[in-house]
Amino acid sequence: MQPVFSLSKRSIDQLETDIIHTDKRELCLRILRYNPQDPDSTPRFQDYQLEQAHGMTLFIALNEIRELQDPGLHFDFVCRAGICGSCGMLINGKPGLACRTLTEDLPALITLAPLPVFELIADLSVNTGKWMRAMSERLETWIHSEEVTLRLGDLEQRMEPALARELYELDRCIECGCCIAACGTAHMHAGFVGAMGLNKISRFQLDPRDDRSDEDLYQLVGDETGVFGCKTLLGCEDSCPKNLSLATQIAWLRRRMVSVALR
Ligand code: SF4
Ligand code: F3S
Ligand code: FES
Repeated sequence: MQPVFSLSKRSIDQLETDIIHTDKRELCLRILRYNPQDPDSTPRFQDYQLEQAHGMTLFIALNEIRELQDPGLHFDFVCRAGICGSCGMLINGKPGLACRTLTEDLPALITLAPLPVFELIADLSVNTGKWMRAMSERLETWIHSEEVTLRLGDLEQRMEPALARELYELDRCIECGCCIAACGTAHMHAGFVGAMGLNKISRFQLDPRDDRSDEDLYQLVGDETGVFGCKTLLGCEDSCPKNLSLATQIAWLRRRMVSVALR
């Protein structure tokens, strides 16, 4: 049987070239520039033009700008794979990861700004680590156990697979800060621990190795800086690059904390 139509090798090559060429377009990255350490620096937007390449991410675009146009541009990255959480920024007004955002999914004019709430280092670089550390110390985000003796010869403690999966799900947070930057409450109340902090509390509440009771956790998050500060604005869940069910998690924790308050 004859094929209905066939393409020569040359036509296939041409088709592939055309597909790749449709990715090509001129981009303008409008980047907020400001270095608070430099007394001569004032906040301003600076435009950079570059040609989009096939599969280009914002991370690649920013590196190209730094390499070819402006070596003084500040931004952070480590893993380039959505794992380290260091490349969070406002992308056309919405928090997201530069290394996981394709320029072809954005309009040709792309506005970039640093994540709000966190201390600005310079340009697109913010000190999320300082915020995380303060939150972590405030919520004591580590296992609290009366068991202090470490016996290296002991077998590992068994955990039901279903529970391990639940814990793993909550541990997928990469501490990028996007949920904090997207939360109106975090903008207004500096002490609010945000969806990320509340997610961590849920994680330790679930963990059978942590001896803390609901009453102990209530002391940590049973107020306006914790679970009762959340106004269900949902920006956190909309912005989480790991798609964590943050609003559901907060609602679950809030129910537990309300039941402690009513006892
Ligand atoms: Fe980032 Fe999501 Fe973790 Fe928030 S909960 S810090 S958005 S990974
Ligand atoms: Fe903020 Fe998310 Fe609550 S955006 S107010 S933490 S639901
Ligand atoms: Fe690590 Fe983007 S560079 S998450």
